[in-house]
Amino acid sequence: MESFHASGTYSKQAHVKIPDGLYEEEHGRNGFFGRVSQLYHENPTVNWTNIEGDLKPQCLPPVYETCGENQFVPMLQNSDVVINAGLFTKSPEYFYRSADYDELFFIHDGSGKIETVYGHLDYKKGDYIVIPRGTTYKIFLNERTKFLKVESSSEFEQPDRGMLGPNALYDQTLLEIPKAELGSEQNLKEYKVQIKRLGKITTVTYPFNPLDVKGWKGSVYPWKLSIYDIAPIMSHRYHIPPSGHTTFVAKNFVICSFVERPLEDTKHGVLKVPFYHSNIDFDEVLFYHQGNFFSRDNIDAGALTFHPQGIHHGPHPKAFEAADDKEYTDEYAVMIDTKNPLIPTEWFNENEIKDYWKSWM
Ligand SMILES: [Fe+2]
Repeated sequence: MESFHASGTYSKQAHVKIPDGLYEEEHGRNGFFGRVSQLYHENPTVNWTNIEGDLKPQCLPPVYETCGENQFVPMLQNSDVVINAGLFTKSPEYFYRSADYDELFFIHDGSGKIETVYGHLDYKKGDYIVIPRGTTYKIFLNERTKFLKVESSSEFEQPDRGMLGPNALYDQTLLEIPKAELGSEQNLKEYKVQIKRLGKITTVTYPFNPLDVKGWKGSVYPWKLSIYDIAPIMSHRYHIPPSGHTTFVAKNFVICSFVERPLEDTKHGVLKVPFYHSNIDFDEVLFYHQGNFFSRDNIDAGALTFHPQGIHHGPHPKAFEAADDKEYTDEYAVMIDTKNPLIPTEWFNENEIKDYWKSWM
């Protein structure tokens, strides 16, 4: 164990029985995995009266109201990951394959199927679909679909469940793997595959459907998991940090799923809302999927917050009261934490809620 020290007034258990009149800040390294200290302030670290400069909490209103249609719009990116929004009202015409990224689709709303070279995967609201880099596929809508698409420079892995055992969080049998199946379109004159390499598209044309695989075997394949199948880790005696809700791990970033769950038990003096922190080694993106987001004011489904390394964030002032008599949260959200700073795109800067940083004032 690291050499641990303590001084002055503090609570013996982090996030529990915070001394009266003080506000706990967590100063954690390496996200929630490294050295950590809790500091007990006289004032909430978010009670600023002004911010001058680029470093501030940022927020997009529900992204599907402004992202246009039938295209993926990058919102935040770095060399490890690109976070896109996509509202599709019709099925894309082309087959697609990325030579740049592994892809993860999260279905915020809608239904349809993704036909891949490995077989078909139906999708509906709440599904995560992982498509390994180099997989040819085509999206078919049953109804208008709101996608969150995460493009990754590395593979999506499952989290290490450690002492929780292999069945925790989500069991292997909850994953859906496609069965070999030919592409449904067989009467087209030609079949065009758009391939993305170094951000540019090359179109390859075939006289046959490229999804022509009669069988496959191996450990590379697309897979699907529903956020509604995730069994959250929780304790009535301790506020589990976001890392306890990890769903996917990639190089230099993780994806966590916040799902509905009973809240911590007030009678043990446990913090029910996320603690204040600046998460100094990770940028934090939170995509709000569904439910009543009680730790933040005026946030609707489809909205997205971006809390960069270095500036504090935490519950909005009213959240503490709101949480007091709450015993259960119906909140669903997808969190993306990145080791390397994320850069907002021009589209993000044009559409963000400029005064969001004032929402703590
Ligand atoms: Fe956070």
